[in-house]
Amino acid sequence: MSVELTRQDEFAVVTLNRPEALNALSAAVLRELDQAFDAVAAGDARALIVTGAGAKAFCAGADIKELTGRSLSAQRRDAAYGQAVLARLDELPMPSVAAINGYAFGGGLELALACTFRLAVPTAKMALPEIKLGLIPGYGGTQRLPRVVGEARALELILSGRTLDAEEALRIGLVHRIAEGDPVAAAIAYARTFSVHGLPALKLARDAVKRALDVPLHEGLKLEADLNTLAFQTRDAAEGMSAFMEKRKPKFTDR
Ligand code: CAA
Repeated sequence: MSVELTRQDEFAVVTLNRPEALNALSAAVLRELDQAFDAVAAGDARALIVTGAGAKAFCAGADIKELTGRSLSAQRRDAAYGQAVLARLDELPMPSVAAINGYAFGGGLELALACTFRLAVPTAKMALPEIKLGLIPGYGGTQRLPRVVGEARALELILSGRTLDAEEALRIGLVHRIAEGDPVAAAIAYARTFSVHGLPALKLARDAVKRALDVPLHEGLKLEADLNTLAFQTRDAAEGMSAFMEKRKPKFTDR
């Protein structure tokens, strides 16, 4: 298996495990990732950590050896499938954290961008280098990168294909933290800052924020009022407010 799904405490960990190809996303790896997300969606983890096996790479992107000589229709299908697999991270009931343990290039950075949060080891290198292959990103990079770092920086990074180190990625907001020590352990420690909260409220908040850059302000505000009302109807909301009044910690049950 080139994608492993394991459990650490209350967290699911998906590891791309193809270190001999720097964990590149072959068609088989994408299918296995899709299946791993099925299992994560059906499970009860409080957060998903996504990482790469070995010390060298998170993921070096689409498998360039498979790209060579591909028909246009196969390329179109692959881009749509890769986008669909990565978009599943938005639909998972729990937030996700990319633990970037080395190179995150092309589709690898696009995978990290599709996660809710990103942590990178100090030696990590990130790029959307497709332009150097005469290509452009195909697994969501042109859409998610500007949403994360702004249009000006995204254009500069996509058109130059240049490599960022972890410090610069942190400075421009591409990663949320530098992971000191073991990247998965750091991602789990980071996940504990939100995993104590109820999953329904976490999902509604993720959905509302995701839409913020897609819709005009008046529509976004309406959506926020609707999702806020949905959150208000949950048992977790009743529990959270009671706990505040009773000066105790809430016991959320994800309902
Ligand atoms: N696909 C297939 N194999 C890859 C790969 C990739 N994306 N990246 C690395 N590999 C393979 C190499 O071919 C090599 O295998 P062999 O030993 O069999 O030759 C092995 O992994 C180790 O790689 P390198 O020897 O190149 O390692 P390095 O340390 O010298 O360089 C690197 C590391 C800078 C990341 C370099 O491997 C590299 O530039 N890789 C390609 C990155 C890239 O261009 N990614 C974008 C792909 S296109 C894409 O992702 C489109 C999209 O939007 C979905």
